[in-house]
Amino acid sequence: MRITVIGTGYLGVTHAACMAELGFEVLGLDIDPVRVASLSEGLLPFHEPGLPELLRKHVKSGRLRFTTSYQEVGAWGDVHFIGVGTPQRAGEGAADMSFVDAATISLARNITKDSLIVGKSTVPVGTTRRLKTLVRDNKRPGVSVNLAWNPEFLREGFAVVDTLTPDRLVVGVESPEDEAILRKVYAKALADGVPLITTDFETAELVKVAANAFLATKISFINAFSEVTEAVGGDIRTLADAIGLDVRIGRRFLNAGIGFGGGCLPKDIRALQARAAELGLDRSMRFLDEMDQINLRRRERAVDLARVMLGSLSQSRIAILGVTFKPNSDDVRDSPALDIANKLFDEGAEVTVYDPAGNVNASRRSPQHHYVTSMGDAVKNADLILLLTEWDEFKTLTPEGLAAQTGTRKIIDGRNILEARVWEDSGWSLGSIGRRYSATQVTEGPHREQLQLSSGPSA
Ligand SMILES: NC(=O)c1ccc[n+]([C@@H]2O[C@H](COP(=O)([O-])OP(=O)(O)OC[C@H]3O[C@@H](n4cnc5c(N)ncnc54)[C@H](O)[C@@H]3O)[C@@H](O)[C@H]2O)c1
Repeated sequence: MRITVIGTGYLGVTHAACMAELGFEVLGLDIDPVRVASLSEGLLPFHEPGLPELLRKHVKSGRLRFTTSYQEVGAWGDVHFIGVGTPQRAGEGAADMSFVDAATISLARNITKDSLIVGKSTVPVGTTRRLKTLVRDNKRPGVSVNLAWNPEFLREGFAVVDTLTPDRLVVGVESPEDEAILRKVYAKALADGVPLITTDFETAELVKVAANAFLATKISFINAFSEVTEAVGGDIRTLADAIGLDVRIGRRFLNAGIGFGGGCLPKDIRALQARAAELGLDRSMRFLDEMDQINLRRRERAVDLARVMLGSLSQSRIAILGVTFKPNSDDVRDSPALDIANKLFDEGAEVTVYDPAGNVNASRRSPQHHYVTSMGDAVKNADLILLLTEWDEFKTLTPEGLAAQTGTRKIIDGRNILEARVWEDSGWSLGSIGRRYSATQVTEGPHREQLQLSSGPSA
């Protein structure tokens, strides 16, 4: 069975390399010739642990190739996975389906033998049925082209592991024959006991967006409570630990902080609301708007705290540690950290950024900041440090270790990974999400009033 993967971004390259690792012949296609040239040399154009090795291995073995030619893909492959982007449409919540539609039409026009197209991109419910019509109208006569949907649940930072050993596989199919093809593709995982859920197109599409909506809700739930603990003087980490011990709730995804971002959760919950509205079901998904607002407010809170701790942001020197939306990735799409850096800059701060992997992507989007290649360079002249992405390098920071590299003793922990008491006992002034910024640190002086205004839930 020959496998092709259309779209070689985070999802597509991972899927292609993992399919090669499972023993299949794989051909990846992208419309970006620079990306295809780089991948063809075994060079991964983004950061993902474990993937460069897999890519190099299979490009070298010849089992994994890349092309820009739909003609080549259509004549060669038996199963075509679609993994192109579905970004948020400019100025709207809905997903931009133009890439999926274009990929589907190009495939259908170029497929010359009976094949199965399998969608993996995250799409609005109803897409597969709509694409079926596109395929029917564009395919060559006498060639049978079926469709299936097989949503992807991989997490950036763990993409290889998640693809080779997923929690579950979900396939939306219309016939046992199509299911059988996908069972062959995933034979190894199935033999290892990974559950397979076979369902209709609509449920398969919805499983993915429902999972992301749930995760976003869980994060925003704890962040809503972080607004309350900030106002009344509670401790959000203890609260999360305590409720998380209830197995019905669970502790994961209950970390209060500057919130979620990235190329998936924010756009997926917005696209889901937009699709629900189209279906006349806007009330069913209206709660997601609230989740979105809670999430965005946490970014404002980080900026408010910075303003309070410095008195004024204008002409302040701020060091940002971590700018990607999560650790172990170079992805800065809708990154809360980068958004906060931009807001601080807009209020007159001079921002210096250090991220172990995200500097290049961040500097393309926000060239106004200084980007440096070590934590020491970022913090040495800072008035305030903001720790915004929980890379291991920052998790192991100590008050003494950081104090040796900088003159400031002011830090905001945007991810709640530092032991506040330890830092404060060492003479640091520490602001965090979900904890009232202690008035004892600024007992008197000009900022007290501002502090009280800003330390509650921000507007
Ligand atoms: N990144 C993740 O962690 C992740 C996880 C699960 C699901 N998804 C979903 O997977 C999809 C892809 O996400 P991504 O993060 O890999 O996106 P991405 O932007 O990294 O990659 C998309 C790729 O598709 C290519 N492309 C665009 N139009 C094309 C066309 N007509 N033909 C061929 N290639 C084309 C682009 O050049 C790009 O390389 C999205 O729907 C996303 O929601 C992503």
